[in-house]
Amino acid sequence: MLGLSVDYHTVIEPILKEKCYQCHGEDKVKGGLRLDSPDSIMSGGDGGEVLVPGAPIDSLLYLMTTYPEDDPDYMPQKGEGLSQAEQALLKDWIEVGAYFGEGFKHEAKPSVGKKYSDTGSKGTYKIVGEAVLIVTKLQEIGVLVDTVNHDAKRFELAYTYAEFSAGSFDFSEAVQLGSELVKLSLARTDVANDDLKKLKQLSSIEYLDLSRTRVGDEGVTHLAELPKLSYLNLRDTNVSDGSIEQLARMTNLEQLYLWGSQFTRSGVLALQERLPETAIVFDTNIGLGNQRGRP
Ligand code: HEC
Repeated sequence: MLGLSVDYHTVIEPILKEKCYQCHGEDKVKGGLRLDSPDSIMSGGDGGEVLVPGAPIDSLLYLMTTYPEDDPDYMPQKGEGLSQAEQALLKDWIEVGAYFGEGFKHEAKPSVGKKYSDTGSKGTYKIVGEAVLIVTKLQEIGVLVDTVNHDAKRFELAYTYAEFSAGSFDFSEAVQLGSELVKLSLARTDVANDDLKKLKQLSSIEYLDLSRTRVGDEGVTHLAELPKLSYLNLRDTNVSDGSIEQLARMTNLEQLYLWGSQFTRSGVLALQERLPETAIVFDTNIGLGNQRGRP
């Protein structure tokens, strides 16, 4: 597990230099994007911002390196891609605030969620009572545990590196966090439609990432029992227009990612009509609703 801080100059910059500068640097500026200085990274490319401190899932700089290599948006477009370890470093760096070091300040205050490391940083958050035990158990089975915005009573779990196979997902440890569990990522796991039945035990979650899984319309039917859900990521899943009715009932949704799913454009438009307040992201830069970043 990674430590608390990933340094930009010694860790991130060399990765970008080796794998990105050739097309996003001094010589070439593909997509209107330069990645060779903090200022240019933060000013983004033709499509707008590429890095949102604290939110890797909203940061193309990271996301595009995690797509399947045959995805037309996969980065780097040529040459060797980022290893899983490099992806994890980039993600971690963004998650804890994308600090560029002394001398650079982000304009807006990033929303920071610090990782628990194995090196004793747990004490910082004064997790009390049983939570300490539960966190330890979760870490033992490979679940990444995080807190949301420094709040030791709001937990975030990522199962991406835990070794569960389709049909065998077990949330019995997570359930013990009770209403303190607010964010759950099952992205890039083997999770099957049936496994999602078990999510009803986690009715406090507000954020659910199912991106790059095999989840389809049948799985979506099980999400109805998550009344607090405000963020749902179904990017690169098998979810299709068949889920319109189910999703349309989730009126608390603020953000819904359908990019790379089986949804058709007309399906997305129909859903948007039913969920006028929800920002639905269906294409690289095209949010159809009151998407973030729109004035
Ligand atoms: C061989 C050239 C090449 C390399 C290497 C490369 N890119 Fe790109 N990148 C492109 C091209 C071309 C585009 C524009 C694609 C388009 O507009 O459809 C682009 C666009 C992007 C964008 C979207 C910019 C915007 O605002 O729309 C991001 C983010 C990005 N690249 C990140 C990266 C990262 C991170 C790396 C290194 C891991 C990388 N790229 C390496 C060619 C490259």
